[in-house]
Amino acid sequence: MSDHYAVIGNPIGHSKSPQIHAAFARQTGERVEYGRILGSLEDFPGDVRAFVADGGRGLNVTVPFKQEAWALLADRSDRAEAAGAVNTIIVLDDGRLRGDNTDGIGLVRDLRDHHGFDFAGKRLLLLGAGGAARGVLPALVDAGPAALTIANRTPTKAVDLAAAAGGEVGGCGFEALAGRRFDLIINATSSGLGGDVPPLPDGLLAADGWVYDMVYGDVPTPFCRWGRGQGAARALDGLGMLVEQAAESFRLWRGVRPQTAPVIAMLRGDGA
Ligand code: ATR
Repeated sequence: MSDHYAVIGNPIGHSKSPQIHAAFARQTGERVEYGRILGSLEDFPGDVRAFVADGGRGLNVTVPFKQEAWALLADRSDRAEAAGAVNTIIVLDDGRLRGDNTDGIGLVRDLRDHHGFDFAGKRLLLLGAGGAARGVLPALVDAGPAALTIANRTPTKAVDLAAAAGGEVGGCGFEALAGRRFDLIINATSSGLGGDVPPLPDGLLAADGWVYDMVYGDVPTPFCRWGRGQGAARALDGLGMLVEQAAESFRLWRGVRPQTAPVIAMLRGDGA
């Protein structure tokens, strides 16, 4: 018999997670079935309880429930704790639920392992101070860049988030970035979903600077187009991050780490 897993979000119809986990299951031989659940905006905890009562073994949590999942679970990994958001729920053998967050490691692994980005000595700019930015911030700090700046449309939120991160992390509004240079600019705002890009000053990218859009979808995304226009050496979308965060969830659930490169290639339409 297969074990049951699912992704829960609202909306959820567009999610590629079932396709990704089906590919992991084929590749590893793990007996896994993975579905999608349209979560109720009124009763997310009820949906989680119902899934577990039906024998479900784990959930991926996506927009807009990641912070609610964090609040729901008393048992959280250190990285979920630091992120203030849960994207992976593990049903332990005794039925208790544990929350983890694999988004940050997914972003770092995509950049480092698939694209060869070396964080050492690099100046990073993270755009946005909502749930998506919070979720990846601890892993970006751990990756060891030379400096990390958070910039947000509402500057106070970036300042607060930077202060909570501690260390050398700074926070500001977009205008205050003028005249500065970054080696990697990561878009964690939701602006691209509406087709916009954050209103940034020109000239923020260092020579050979990269941009990374945590959004995936139609390629190039609006933010990647902006990056190209600013002379980015590389403009990456978030598909690799999506697959890497899924692989880490799969490992947490099954104890087996799937290979990610063939699955990314499959989703890009240039693999099997
Ligand atoms: P998510 O979970 O996707 O991060 P969120 O918590 O609602 O969603 O946060 C959305 C982020 O995108 C915020 O940083 C928001 O900026 P504000 O804090 O100023 O609201 C940012 N954002 C949304 N639309 C934007 C736009 N058109 N331009 C710039 N930033 C935008």
